[in-house]
Amino acid sequence: MTLKASKKPLLQALAGGVPERPAWWLMRQAGRYLPEYRALRRKAGGFLDFCYTPELAVEATLQPLRRFGMDAAILFSDILVIPDALGQEVDFLEGEGPMLRPIRRVEDVKALKKNGILDHLRPVFETIKRLSLNLEARTALIGFAGAPWTVAVYMVEGRGGTDLATIRAWARQDPGGFQALIDVLVEATADYLVEQARSGAEAVQVFDSWAGALDDDEFRRWVTAPTRRIVDALAAACPGVPVIGFPRGAGKRALAYVEATGVAGVGLDHDLPLDWIAGTLQPKCAVQGNLDNRALVAGGAGMEKQARDILAALATGPFVFNLAHGVLPETPPAHVARLAEIIRAWPASAKGAGR
Ligand code: CP3
Repeated sequence: MTLKASKKPLLQALAGGVPERPAWWLMRQAGRYLPEYRALRRKAGGFLDFCYTPELAVEATLQPLRRFGMDAAILFSDILVIPDALGQEVDFLEGEGPMLRPIRRVEDVKALKKNGILDHLRPVFETIKRLSLNLEARTALIGFAGAPWTVAVYMVEGRGGTDLATIRAWARQDPGGFQALIDVLVEATADYLVEQARSGAEAVQVFDSWAGALDDDEFRRWVTAPTRRIVDALAAACPGVPVIGFPRGAGKRALAYVEATGVAGVGLDHDLPLDWIAGTLQPKCAVQGNLDNRALVAGGAGMEKQARDILAALATGPFVFNLAHGVLPETPPAHVARLAEIIRAWPASAKGAGR
C-alpha cells in the first residue's frame, strides 16, 4: 500500500496530501496532566521500568486517545532510553527530571556499550507490536527517538535546564572527540528507529529539543548532518516510513533543516509567522505545529483564536495540527478536549467567533 492510499489522516498529510479533516496529535500527549496517568505512574515504580513494561507503556500510550481521539498514538517511552541502553547511568528523580552520570571525554565515549542496544530495548519493540494491534483504523502509530545533539546534551550536561556551556565547550575545543559521541548516537538511533518501524511504527519523530542553542555552523554539523544520516538509514531499511523532524528553536533555519535532512514533516515553533510557514516551508514538506503549549494551559478565547488561525493558514496544505512543544503538566484536560472539538469541527468552526 502506498502512503497516499492510506486511510490514516496523519500518513496522508506526511505523504504530502490534504486529509478530509486535519490530522492532529500532541507532543507529550501522555503524562502528568492526566489523572489516570498519575495513577498508573504510582503503580509503575521507576520511570525507566515503566517505559520497559509493555503492559504499562501500552496503557499510558492509549490513555490520551480514549479521552480525546487523536489521529496518532505516540509510543510511550523516553528519549533517554538510548543513553540507558548504552550503559550510562540514567535516573529520573521525582520532581527534578532526568539525572545522568555525565560523560565528558572521548574515553567516556569509548566506554559506552555499543553492542546489545536492541536487546536492551526489546520491551519497547514489544510495546509497539502490541499497540499496532490495538489501534483504530484511522489512528497512526508514531515511534520516536531523541536526535543525537539533544540526547548528547543530556549525556554531557547530566541533566536538562543548563546553559549548555559544557557540551558547547567540548564540541568547540575537541570537535573530533565530540563527533565520536555523535557517531555512536547516529548509529544507535538509526538502528533503534529501524527496529521500531519493523515492529509496527508507521512514522517516526526525531526530537531535537535543544537544536536552537547552536549557531549556523554548529547547527549544520550537530543537528542537520546527523539527522540526515538517520533519515537515510531509515529510508534504506524501511522505505515509506516518514520522518518528522522537530528542531525546536531553529526558527527560520527550519527551512535549511528540511532541505538538508530530507524529513517528510517538520515540527515548528509557535513564534514562526504562519504566512512564512505556508509560503516557504509547506511547499517543501508537511508542517506540524504550532500552538503555544502555554496557550493550551490558559485555554479560553485566546487558545481558540490561535488554534483557528493556525488551521486557517495551514490546513489547506499538508499539515498536522500539534503544539510547538509538549503538553505541560499543569494543562487542564478540559482545554485539550476543547481543542479537539475545534480541530474536529474545522472548517465549520472557521465561521465562528474570534476571526
Ligand atoms: O509524547 C508522549 O506522550 C510520549 C512519551 C514521551 C515522554 N518523553 C514521556 C515522559 C516523549 C515523546 C518524550 C520525549 C522527551 N523526553 C523529550 C523531547 C521532547 C521535549 O519535551 O522536549 C525530552 C527532552 C525528554 C527528556 C525528559 N523526560 C525530561 C526532560 C523529563 C522530565 C521533565 C518532564 O517533562 O517531566 C522526562 C520525563 C518524562 N518523559 C515524563 C514523561 C511522561 C514524566 C515522568 C514522570 O511521570 O515523572
